[in-house]
Amino acid sequence: MKINLSPTTKFENRHNGPSPEDISMMLEKIGASSMEELIDQTIPKSIQMNRPLDLPAAKSEAAFLKEFKALASKNKIFKSFIGLGYYDTIVPGVILRNVLENPGWYTAYTPYQAEIAQGRLEALINYQTTVMELTGMEMANASLLDEATAAAEAMTMLHASKPREKKNANKFFVDEKIFPQTKDLLITRSTPIGIELHIAPLSELDLTDSDLFGVLIQYPNIDGEAIDHAALVAAAKENHVMTAFATDLLALTLLTPPGEMGADVVVGTSQRFGVPMGFGGPHAAFFATKEAFKRQVPGRIIGVSVDRDGNKAYRMALQTREQHIKREKATSNICTAQVLLAVMAGFYAVYHGPKGLKEIASRTHGLAQLTAKALAKLGFEQENKSYFDTIKIKVNDVEQSKIQAFALSAEMNFRYEPGAIFLSFDEAKTLEDAIAVVEIFAMSTNQKVDLDWNALTADLDINLPQGLARTSDFLTHPVFNQFHAEHEMLRYIKRLENKDLSLVHSMISLGSCTMKLNATAEMIPVTWPEFGQLHPFCPQDQAAGYYEMFQNLRNWLTEITGFADTSLQPNSGAQGEYAGLMVIRAYHQSRGDHHRNIALIPTSAHGTNPASAVMAGMKVVLVKCDEKGNIDVTDLKEKAEAHSSNLACLMVTYPSTHGVFEEAIREICQIIHDNGGQVYMDGANMNAQVGLTSPGLIGADVCHLNLHKTFCIPHGGGGPGMGPISVAKQLVPFLPSNPVVKTGGTQAIHAISAAPFGSASILPISYAYIAMMGGDGLTNATRLAILNANYIKYRLESHYPILYTGKGGRAAHEMILDCRAFKEVGVEVEDIAKRLMDYGFHAPTVSFPVAGTLMVEPTESETVSELDRFCDAMIAIRAEIQEIYDGEADKENNVLKNAPHTAGLALADTWEFPYSRTKAVYPLPYVKGNKFWPTVRRIDSAYGDRNLICSCIPVEEYASEVAE
Ligand SMILES: Cc1ncc(COP(=O)(O)O)c(C=O)c1O
Repeated sequence: MKINLSPTTKFENRHNGPSPEDISMMLEKIGASSMEELIDQTIPKSIQMNRPLDLPAAKSEAAFLKEFKALASKNKIFKSFIGLGYYDTIVPGVILRNVLENPGWYTAYTPYQAEIAQGRLEALINYQTTVMELTGMEMANASLLDEATAAAEAMTMLHASKPREKKNANKFFVDEKIFPQTKDLLITRSTPIGIELHIAPLSELDLTDSDLFGVLIQYPNIDGEAIDHAALVAAAKENHVMTAFATDLLALTLLTPPGEMGADVVVGTSQRFGVPMGFGGPHAAFFATKEAFKRQVPGRIIGVSVDRDGNKAYRMALQTREQHIKREKATSNICTAQVLLAVMAGFYAVYHGPKGLKEIASRTHGLAQLTAKALAKLGFEQENKSYFDTIKIKVNDVEQSKIQAFALSAEMNFRYEPGAIFLSFDEAKTLEDAIAVVEIFAMSTNQKVDLDWNALTADLDINLPQGLARTSDFLTHPVFNQFHAEHEMLRYIKRLENKDLSLVHSMISLGSCTMKLNATAEMIPVTWPEFGQLHPFCPQDQAAGYYEMFQNLRNWLTEITGFADTSLQPNSGAQGEYAGLMVIRAYHQSRGDHHRNIALIPTSAHGTNPASAVMAGMKVVLVKCDEKGNIDVTDLKEKAEAHSSNLACLMVTYPSTHGVFEEAIREICQIIHDNGGQVYMDGANMNAQVGLTSPGLIGADVCHLNLHKTFCIPHGGGGPGMGPISVAKQLVPFLPSNPVVKTGGTQAIHAISAAPFGSASILPISYAYIAMMGGDGLTNATRLAILNANYIKYRLESHYPILYTGKGGRAAHEMILDCRAFKEVGVEVEDIAKRLMDYGFHAPTVSFPVAGTLMVEPTESETVSELDRFCDAMIAIRAEIQEIYDGEADKENNVLKNAPHTAGLALADTWEFPYSRTKAVYPLPYVKGNKFWPTVRRIDSAYGDRNLICSCIPVEEYASEVAE
């Protein structure tokens, strides 16, 4: 055999499941003579791309990683004292390796199927408990996208929850001493919905103002000053004004929590609980509030319920379905959140426990205090009266510029404001760092540091004034007090991981969610310090690697979408929707069309679409779908014409959420343009477009991309994600800005996310995917996603009605299996979803976009054998349903109704079901070799909603569970 010295293994062949032989076999089975024929039968000819994607040639994994390391090393890791909500932290190795770098955690989906998600649900309950106890609040969610958007959510929740006395109040007061990114985001979010924002010094707060409904205060404030606001909160209450605090979890181990001052809402970021700064994200923001607001809380709340045997079990509470239920009446569009990072922060609290956290906080505070004392000896004045980690040093201009130069040469970043330098300390700083800071200040005034450090350190103490010093206990639950040895922690993490089904077990064919391969080579750079340890507001020249990556990625995504430019700022799909709509709004306003505020949205749209439109100040007009699931073009035309003078946009998902490439899409875009509107394309289904067509080619004006779907960022159990928007030429000037770092268009809208480039540190994943696939690889992946879907359709269509197909009888990249008829024999779609667990599978998407159905999306990454395993399971389940039809199985007491079956049930001494244990737990031969055991039986969701408990289960019950 001849030797070939160049490697032949392409990454594409690892990413894609089917081999060339499989492809031939599948094409034959589905009755297509070639891939080209299949695509022609699936995608309307008029929108097919007639040129290859203009992207760099594909790189091998090894070559990419080598080259990317060189790019990463252009980022310079300076010690950051900048603060402003981003602090250096030490990620405990056991969490880094076993959570952040572990596909068992990062490839899981949002825990809708609670019986196979008890691990991450428990981890999230730990997170919620941490937040509740540190903030002193009655409940918390898990989680929001960043501190700034969490503050905006607080504002809108309070606005929607005004007491009777304040029914018409519309003013929200914001203490000017708030982080700049929060301030900017509040401007973005308040403007379109008509909330009057009043940003001013707290001394100007007039609580008797009848128009005032709420106040937001940063605690400690941007200067680092911690102020006791108990009297202010009490006075606000007397005047029916609600109070929100933006705060810092670590500080609250030492400071009186806002909850004890009477706050209504407390928000912030949990970043410094073991999640790297990552040049801005991703990190989990928290949102804690009072029970009274429990039905208004944005995002996901994890609650405790019971399973069929009465055992405690966790599941997501009602709020989770907020947009799908409330749609245009929803006040928040939050969907994908920051689950993986919330899990990490929760584990950080478990790992350190209350004592450890207090120690970290004390050390941080001690370093700030020591530095202040030492600087005082050199003649520098520290201006904060009470502080936690941030000191404010008065300096003149000359001193400041000298200090800045010395600091930079010592590879340190301070925060510089007129007349003062701010220094924020954190867990990663040491005594040596404090000494180095003091030396820099000394050099600026030509002094020599000759201090007795031993004496200075000897009398450090936490001497916060009464009222500000925390006196209450926190994290007393056993879970925060028993896993401090690494072995215990490791085993706890593994124990939880083992309860959850993720992509490491089997395919997760969630329609609209695109659970494809998250390749290891794509994930490796995420935890490189060159990406993790940069502060988002560090000087730009220290982030040259990041900027190079952003520029390339922007170019690539712009090429893929067929548009003119891309903003990387939105940090979820729903944030992308909001950003896109705000850009459309700004465009109309720039043309004097302030009145254009109607958003046409098809009834099949994802719930975030109408919610985002309302947040952008638009009015939603629904457009019907016809019996084939397509947009009813006649209805659309009528509505577009009727609202012609006020039309802002259409929001359309393509291919549709019904899994069809609608033939009329070009005409649809034209109708909207003819009536003065812009076309917003929801890019959730881009996995069916890349390389074969594009939103730009189709005629849309803006689309968001869920990088956590099409571009391989793992779902993380419900986040992180990224939702960049790509736009046509006329919208480029309006792309979003950031108040600290220059970014966005020439007439940029205010910030959409806290950080200028959203969750920057996970962008390497999508970057790696595109770089290793190249244009041809990406296009092939799209073809295979369509082929895999049509193969599943071929295997299942004689067992389950397929609800919609395109003109050529083909599915796009996903399809809807209609399960509604089975109600005749009492079988609900939920029963099928739960029964799939017994076969080792996560259910496809349940009841979206059509109630009572399953939407299946296999993606290109699954092999034929995995597709067959899934289809075998679905066919076997259909046979089990048939047994009920045929009277062979009882209508109430059958394998579907009793699913999932746990090991406890199968191993119990008594077995009272009218079918065998083998049928229950090993329903097909393959299951025996690879059994996944759900750890709880069917969970009673209604019970959990009626009895909402969102903190760790009580100690007594916990103890009995451990003993079992
Ligand atoms: C069609 C569609 N649009 C929008 C979204 C919202 O995206 P995200 O969850 O990233 O906010 C989703 C999420 O599943 C979706 O399926």
